[in-house]
Amino acid sequence: MRENRRFAPPAALAGAANVTGDAYAAASADRIAFWEEQARRLDWERPWTTALDWRPPFARWFSGGRLNVAVNAVDRHVAAGHGDQVALHWEGEPGDTRTITYARLQDEVCKAANALSELGVRAGDRVMIYLPMIPEAVFSMLACARLGAPHSVVFGGFSAEALRNRVEDARARLLITADGGFRRGRPNDLKTAADEAVAGTGVEKVLVVRRTGAEVPFTAGRDVWWQDVVDRQSTTHVPEYFDAEQPLFILYTSGTTAKPKGILHTSGGYLTQAAYTHHAVFDLKPDTDVYWCAADVGWVTGHSYIVYGPLANRATQVMYEGTPDTPHRGRFWEIVQKYGVSILYTAPTTIRTFMKWGDDVPAGFDLSSLRLLGSVGEPINPEAWIWYREHIGGGRVPVVDTWWQTETGAIMISPLPGVTACKPGSAQAALPGIAADVVDDSGTPVPPGGGGYLVLTEPWPGMLRGIWGDPGRYADTYWSRFADQGYYFAGDGAKKDEDGDVWLLGRVDDVMNVSGHRISTTEVESALVSAPQVAEAAVVGATDPTTGQGIVAFVILRGGAADKGAVLAAELREHVAREIGPIAKPRQILVVPELPKTRSGKIMRRLLRDVAENRSLGDVTTLQDSSVMDLISARLPSASGED
Ligand code: WT7
Repeated sequence: MRENRRFAPPAALAGAANVTGDAYAAASADRIAFWEEQARRLDWERPWTTALDWRPPFARWFSGGRLNVAVNAVDRHVAAGHGDQVALHWEGEPGDTRTITYARLQDEVCKAANALSELGVRAGDRVMIYLPMIPEAVFSMLACARLGAPHSVVFGGFSAEALRNRVEDARARLLITADGGFRRGRPNDLKTAADEAVAGTGVEKVLVVRRTGAEVPFTAGRDVWWQDVVDRQSTTHVPEYFDAEQPLFILYTSGTTAKPKGILHTSGGYLTQAAYTHHAVFDLKPDTDVYWCAADVGWVTGHSYIVYGPLANRATQVMYEGTPDTPHRGRFWEIVQKYGVSILYTAPTTIRTFMKWGDDVPAGFDLSSLRLLGSVGEPINPEAWIWYREHIGGGRVPVVDTWWQTETGAIMISPLPGVTACKPGSAQAALPGIAADVVDDSGTPVPPGGGGYLVLTEPWPGMLRGIWGDPGRYADTYWSRFADQGYYFAGDGAKKDEDGDVWLLGRVDDVMNVSGHRISTTEVESALVSAPQVAEAAVVGATDPTTGQGIVAFVILRGGAADKGAVLAAELREHVAREIGPIAKPRQILVVPELPKTRSGKIMRRLLRDVAENRSLGDVTTLQDSSVMDLISARLPSASGED
């Protein structure tokens, strides 16, 4: 909070920026008219009649307007004569490549849409997508969008059990998966998990992309190969136009209970904000930039800043299948050099990993094509921010720290690279058209220098339209905390500095942020107690120098279960990986005799966090039994395990 360094925009960038400081004034003069102006960046088959219909907490944007999202992302660019422009420079982990122009993308999306129709998918049907980072993931999402069939992409790192829960909640009819993808030099099977997930559900067809060529189980009558069904389709598909509020996707994210929330996004407003923010924050020049968002399509970043925003803006982008250290730790920089990447968007945890690997790795590559760097997913510490600017950006490239959420659909708080003097560690200010504030417990805005909760004070076009199948949970989770003011509660703590800039301080609820992935403490706890050895579990996120937070679990064993130290920890970690996915494996598991609880029986995670972070204990007076903490401390360290 005492950060005094400022980095003004480079003159060349500022002089040619897509968006200038005037946008703030235009948006504050008339916020709705401002968003209407941005919506006109898209092609509409029929104009909207009402820009915003706001019946708190339910919003409809651009009602009466009709559009096709896939046509906006692909066809209109081909029609305008850009068919030969590269849309995707795809790089497989083993080094195989595919170059997909906008004309080719149109063909592939049309073929996939025709195939999905043949397999019985109709507008409104839910399609699950469980794919590695291959072009077919993009084709599939756009084919669904083209048909008005909402997709639900599940990150390939989630387990069969996690996929099954999402398939069932979405009541999906079809699943698109692959024989696998390449990860860390090996084929990584997805099909076996997909089979386990769909057994006994409403999924009628499984469309399987052949990627690795590995032998995988195949169920005749239900499973069909992409190469058999999609490749033979016509490259012509006449698009249907849908209302701006047609559901576009459901994306599951962790909340404070064990059941993930299906965040629902719709079409016109979402695409407007994804495209506008991509244009404004990344300053994309479609004729010259090469843009790379190193996220996975399984997360919202991949939805908004690989698929929908960049393609709506006719970006040429890099898409990479694998991990940053395969086959060597310079793989990212080799890709930047090879394709002349000019804009790179990645997460703080990745940046800190690169810092750990050493300055000499990026120094071995020509990174002079870069002109803009972005960060997302968790607070970026000033040290990592400066390293990113110096060692990747050559000390001359602006770094934009972008705050948003699965729920917000698109970037909300971020510098504008041609306008803002950037401050290391701060996401700074709400974008034009966005209204955010930091408020105290009673919902009153804090003065400069004060801290509190981040809220969004006006509806925005990309906002979630609800939680799939659970309107009550939607109202309760986001709109009840500051109901009197009608503010959206983001779940993040924040501070306003003396300039009024916003600093994000992490979650204030029982949600952890591990490597930029959102994981609920309750979800991991319920996975742990489903293991036969565990009677009770409490999970906290402890500060971790690389991953932001690490998962630390305190478990009470069942009578008869032995504390086998590292063996037990390994068993429980595997159990969590099976229940949720490897990303949710606890960093550390501590066997304890008791858990600290209040008189009403609520676990005091704050005290466990103190233990996990080796701090002296905070206030213990509300504990039902204050000797519990001595018992826990006496047992440290117990079973633990690391990857
Ligand atoms: C949570 C949302 C947005 C795409 C990736 C994560 C944290 C996100 C930042 C940032 C500080 C950030 C917040 C937020 N977060 N970006 N720039 N600075 N914190 O999406 O999984 O929906 O998680 O990630 O805690 O609430 P998500």
